[in-house]
Amino acid sequence: MELVQLGRKAREEAKKENGCPTDDVSPFNPPDPYAPPGQDLSVPTEELHPVLRAFRLEHEAFIKQLDTVEQVLNHVLERGPSNAADEALGVFFQCVENEVLPHNRREEEVLFPLMALRLKEAGEHSQTPEAVTGIDVLRADHLHVVQLSAVMLNFFGIAGRLPDRASQRMVIEAGIRQGKALVELLRLHMFREDEVLFSLAHKLLTAEDLAHLEAELG
Ligand SMILES: [Fe+2]
Ligand SMILES: [Fe+2]
Repeated sequence: MELVQLGRKAREEAKKENGCPTDDVSPFNPPDPYAPPGQDLSVPTEELHPVLRAFRLEHEAFIKQLDTVEQVLNHVLERGPSNAADEALGVFFQCVENEVLPHNRREEEVLFPLMALRLKEAGEHSQTPEAVTGIDVLRADHLHVVQLSAVMLNFFGIAGRLPDRASQRMVIEAGIRQGKALVELLRLHMFREDEVLFSLAHKLLTAEDLAHLEAELG
């Protein structure tokens, strides 16, 4: 069964279970975010078109960074700030600024508009007056990444300028909470793209679409 069909099936089942019309269940935003319908039909990386494969390989590099930053955040929470932690967080912010955000922009400018079109053509959208697709969920994730990184950076920046340790500690803990939320969001977002978006793109995008993506993304 195709991922698109599975998405429809999940929506129909949710409508039956809830006894009310809902179009919120989509493979991009299922009740259990880490168990989307059709997950077992995910296309292996080596079978993806090079332009889609490149996005997934970039995720692999980001996921390694997330593991490191999560360890650093836990370390700061347990033992307080240190030069080594500052350095590691600095590397993470550089990675978000110079790699994650440009990656997201490339998805938004080229891949997302094409996929939104193909998903609508395939009937994989809400039945609301303004048809919404899973691409809207992914765009909202991108916006949330920018917001969380900015808030996290601000908390850590403010903490360094506070005179007493108690206030510093409180603000650092607030920054760590934002940081952990950011790590979780990025993990879930990349999971959604790896397990659902790229597999759907592999099935729905035409040869011309993929050639267009390749030309645009170089
Ligand atoms: Fe993304
Ligand atoms: Fe991505």
